[in-house]
Amino acid sequence: MTRRRTPADVVRAAPGPAFEIRFDGRPLPALPGQSIAAALWAAGVLSWRTTRRDGRPRGAFCGIGSCFDCLATVNGRPNQRACLVPARPGDTITTQEGHGHADLTV
Ligand code: FES
Repeated sequence: MTRRRTPADVVRAAPGPAFEIRFDGRPLPALPGQSIAAALWAAGVLSWRTTRRDGRPRGAFCGIGSCFDCLATVNGRPNQRACLVPARPGDTITTQEGHGHADLTV
């Protein structure tokens, strides 16, 4: 039986110990140096935003900060590109609906 290789194994990375972030109230592990999108993907979360018009699910697409599909609300700040924001211990990520400013609508 062969051992399953992870991306960290392939590049011989030795990340520090995992820490916890929360996504929609759910605790998830993250590693130092991981982006929020990478941590969500590693936990099996593929969607963390809905489109403005039709409420369609979105997550990471380009992974390099070009497409804006990965917008999320991070620690109460909407419109953060999850593929560029490093995960930090205790971060709270919530699914972003629409333009992320629904609480400001008058
Ligand atoms: S996945 Fe395209 S900007 Fe983040």
